[in-house]
Amino acid sequence: MTASVSLAAGSVAEFSGSLLAIALADDPKLSAGLIDLDRALGGTLQRSLDMRDFRGARDEAFALSGPAGGARRIVLIGMGKVNDRAGALRRAAAIAARQAMKLGFSDIGFYSGELGAEETEAATVGMIIGSWQYVDLKTPTPESERRAVLERATILTSSTNASRGGVANGEAIGAGHSLARTLAMMPGNICTPDFLAKTAEDIAARHQMKVTVLGRKEMEAEGMGSFLCVAQGTPQDPKLIILEYNGGKAGDKPVTLVGKGLCFDSGGISIKPAQSMEDMKYDMCGAAGVLGALEAIGRMKLPINVVGLIGSTTNMPSGTAVNPGDVVKSHLGKYIEIINTDAEGRLVLADVLSYARRFNPAVVIDAATLTGAIVVALGHTATGVFSGDDNLISETIAAGRRAGEPGWSMPLWDEYRDLIKSEVADIKNSGGRPAGAVSAAMFLKEFTEEYPWIHLDVAGTAYSDSDLGTMPKGPTGTPTGTFIEFVRGRLS
Ligand code: BES
Ligand code: MN
Ligand code: ZN
Repeated sequence: MTASVSLAAGSVAEFSGSLLAIALADDPKLSAGLIDLDRALGGTLQRSLDMRDFRGARDEAFALSGPAGGARRIVLIGMGKVNDRAGALRRAAAIAARQAMKLGFSDIGFYSGELGAEETEAATVGMIIGSWQYVDLKTPTPESERRAVLERATILTSSTNASRGGVANGEAIGAGHSLARTLAMMPGNICTPDFLAKTAEDIAARHQMKVTVLGRKEMEAEGMGSFLCVAQGTPQDPKLIILEYNGGKAGDKPVTLVGKGLCFDSGGISIKPAQSMEDMKYDMCGAAGVLGALEAIGRMKLPINVVGLIGSTTNMPSGTAVNPGDVVKSHLGKYIEIINTDAEGRLVLADVLSYARRFNPAVVIDAATLTGAIVVALGHTATGVFSGDDNLISETIAAGRRAGEPGWSMPLWDEYRDLIKSEVADIKNSGGRPAGAVSAAMFLKEFTEEYPWIHLDVAGTAYSDSDLGTMPKGPTGTPTGTFIEFVRGRLS
């Protein structure tokens, strides 16, 4: 469950909820809107600033008691030097919401001066990001000891049509993020390819989308030898999930979102070491991003055509599994030599990207937890952005920046093509250690020549193994926000 967000005008001194969060930039001054509150507090706010107890540094949090008749507790949240106000507000709101969760408060007020539509949206998204949690698999603590969860967030700014629109969009985007994070967090024995297909069917039913699911049989008929060789070792039925949202004009080419949906990646016969293998339940974060984005797009009723494609299976070793040295024929017709069965994401995506041609896409953007090598290159900070088209790279990086999901351009040059040359087939599925994220992208490129295409390697950014301040360790929601902003950026 996540918090619901509303707006309220009026003085912060009169806010009488549990927790009042006030987001302030670096080197803070008491603005006119805080004078009443400071007076009600007997000047404590001003004194805290004068004595530099609170300096407004990024992510700084400073708690004090509320005034008689007002908020029970107040927390000042630092935003640091603010260049991107929406981004800073998203972050501050997420930190504030997490404070409320920690304190066991069911409601929060958030104030940071007057907010425009975009800023209200960002604060709303932040509130939802900060209040997300996944507790389905924990036995609830007894009622008497249970702390409340954050249910209501009030953004203290004047309620105009624009700011109300900001809340509505923010709630839609927040719902997309929460869905993606929940799917990612769910263990592989619960979030199966079947479960992802059911989730897509639910989204389609909620928002009048068309959903189609191909199983092993249907993919055999399609000649998807690349996707299917990954699914050869698993008893679960693999799924190619297709969601079609027609918010735009009939005949307008769709923006097509593609996601890697490996519900668990053991590596297959080229099995992974046991250390952190449990994290490979997150190998479906690209798919979760597609579903999260479509949930948000459906809620916002964006006037554009969007297709979502997900390739979902698990990668398991077994007597029937594909072996290194095997050659398979892909949906496009190219023959692929399997060098390493752990380079399975590109095999699944190859056939999904080839299948995407039939939607006559305006552009295809795929997201995949594709390589450990991108983590070596960019760490957990930036998503790797690959495309042969520099304008598409800029468009995607800008979308990611608006969403608070930074991306960085990586090369996709013909010079790297040699890495995936095969002795026996057209190409091989692993280029070894050098430029591992690039050779993976070069492999995908082989299947995307008929439309404009961007690839996002989110292996380092889709989940975090440490607490990020705005969210606990675990799924971050990336690439949901990038997908949503990319689509919004294409509205005419
Ligand atoms: N799902 C992994 C990539 C990954 C690694 C995601 C770490 C998140 C964190 C992918 O399927 C994989 O195993 N890639 C191999 C490719 C190699 C065998 C060419 C890798 O990165 O080691
Ligand atoms: Mn793998
Ligand atoms: Zn994988």
